[in-house]
Amino acid sequence: MAEYIHVSVAWPYANGDLHAGHITGSMLPADIFARYHRLKGNHVLMVSGSDSHGTPTMVAADEEGKTPREVFEYYHRRNLDVWKTLGISYDLYTHTDTENHHKISQDIFTRLLERGYLYTEVQERLYSPTEDRFLEDRYVEGTCPVCGYENARGDQCDNCGSLLNATELIDPRSKRDGTTPERRETIHYFLDLAKFREPLRKYLESHKEHWRPTVYNEAISKVDDQRGRPITRDIKWGIKVPIDDPVWNEKRLYVWFEAVMGYLTASVEWANNNGQPDAWKKWWYNPNARAYYFMGKDNILFHTIIWPAELIGINSLYNNGDNTPIVLPYDVPANQYLNLEERKFSKSRKWYISMLDLLDRYDPDPVRYYLTAVMPEMRDTDWKWDDFVARNNNELLAKWGNLVNRVLKFTDKHFDGRIPEPGELRDEDKELIAKVEAGFDTVGNLITEVKLRAALEEAMRLATEVNIYLDTAPWFGNTIKEDKQAAATTMYTALRCINNLKVIFAPFLPFTSERLHQLLGFDGSVFGELEIVTYDEETRSHDALIYDPDGASVEWKPQELPVGQPIPQPEPLIKKLAPEVADEERARLGFEA
Ligand code: MF3
Ligand code: ZN
Repeated sequence: MAEYIHVSVAWPYANGDLHAGHITGSMLPADIFARYHRLKGNHVLMVSGSDSHGTPTMVAADEEGKTPREVFEYYHRRNLDVWKTLGISYDLYTHTDTENHHKISQDIFTRLLERGYLYTEVQERLYSPTEDRFLEDRYVEGTCPVCGYENARGDQCDNCGSLLNATELIDPRSKRDGTTPERRETIHYFLDLAKFREPLRKYLESHKEHWRPTVYNEAISKVDDQRGRPITRDIKWGIKVPIDDPVWNEKRLYVWFEAVMGYLTASVEWANNNGQPDAWKKWWYNPNARAYYFMGKDNILFHTIIWPAELIGINSLYNNGDNTPIVLPYDVPANQYLNLEERKFSKSRKWYISMLDLLDRYDPDPVRYYLTAVMPEMRDTDWKWDDFVARNNNELLAKWGNLVNRVLKFTDKHFDGRIPEPGELRDEDKELIAKVEAGFDTVGNLITEVKLRAALEEAMRLATEVNIYLDTAPWFGNTIKEDKQAAATTMYTALRCINNLKVIFAPFLPFTSERLHQLLGFDGSVFGELEIVTYDEETRSHDALIYDPDGASVEWKPQELPVGQPIPQPEPLIKKLAPEVADEERARLGFEA
């Protein structure tokens, strides 16, 4: 039975260009996962969008001398270009400044208020006397009260992961002008997380067995400390608090409080765009649906505590009296960080490669291959230029690209450009075919468990098996004329395996697999298309990326390969990278030659 799989991908702040760490942290694993489930015939809904609001966008606007809206629209479009070029196949990639998102987040606020999960409190916040304004958490730095790290941000400590309020920082300082802020009183709404401790603990414990220990341990260790958290802010950029009076008109919803709601609001937007306004409920009010949330480790508490609490709090808001509970995250396979040549990515220190830059110089699949091979699933890892080049040449090209090229060329040359008719399959042929076909289970199970590095290694191991098979075929190469029938059987076997590997590699290397699909003489496409579309300007839901499955024709199972099928002129799938490439790229970063 086809399953309902919600693939929820962290919403990047639209305040700057994305780098490889963002991509391997959440978007790429989500895409591999979604593509696999689509091939399996499951119902996938993969949504996300640009996080338009909050201080990150305001800070960028200050720096660039633009309005926050100009900033987010600019980077939102650049994000769309990354998805399209890299093949990140969102069913809908939108943003949080749509009318739809504003309205639903306000409804959720109202619902939580009605059900007694929100309260107001006058709070001390940090105020800048030099600038005559409240300073948002992000505008403040200081020493973490939990671990003593000296450069903790006002909202979170990057060292120990604790969520903070800026007033808790020791020796706070304004990031805007370095001055010491003072405390002033202001009223805010709070989400009463203490009320959710019990249901949250139950929820977390029920997933202990299958979550990554890093994720489970962080969530469970923090659940009992949960108190009220402020969910409004003294800023002008964001979603209005849905209470019409002079005090609240000046405030906005806290960006984190509403951004996580995007998973739901984007699902609704997707359904509306498709003319089936209720369709999103198949993923959100369905006891058998599973929701997977992809993100970097700094997002764990927001997705294992705050968002589940909000969902428990609203529960049946959109279900017309039906008691089916709303679907909580089934898995939160958060990744650790990717560093660049052993140092953190940093835009200000120019220790950075933007994804668009990278995709200007390299094909998408080699980038996807490398980012999967070094994906920080369990610990922090590094983008290293010499490793990128080496893995492209020694793994992707040597084991997969060359294998395909060799077999297609041989077929072109000796069998008239058609899939040859085999003789009776010998034991070694049957064994190889069986080994590769078993990959649909082994690789598929690893992807289902979100062990993507291991899944890719397993796929590569299968390609290696085919290489070994060809290398040990006694006649391969010059003796073809002596036994053309044996050669035909071998080539047919290899082609059949390659055709299966085309599918097994497809979630990781979608462009290569699409190309190979054509090179093997098939019509149609493995997946379908990604399109950037413009929706209604008035509701501000313009410029989105959608996945259109039209023409997708391949399934995750052993493939038929029609004997006699003509193949087009072969061409190489993967390019070799010159070793100097690594030196050039390192020089760009400032390394000495
Ligand atoms: N924009 C935030 C970040 O990049 C939050 C992402 S996830 C969200 O860390 F669901 F909260 F939006
Ligand atoms: Zn800390």
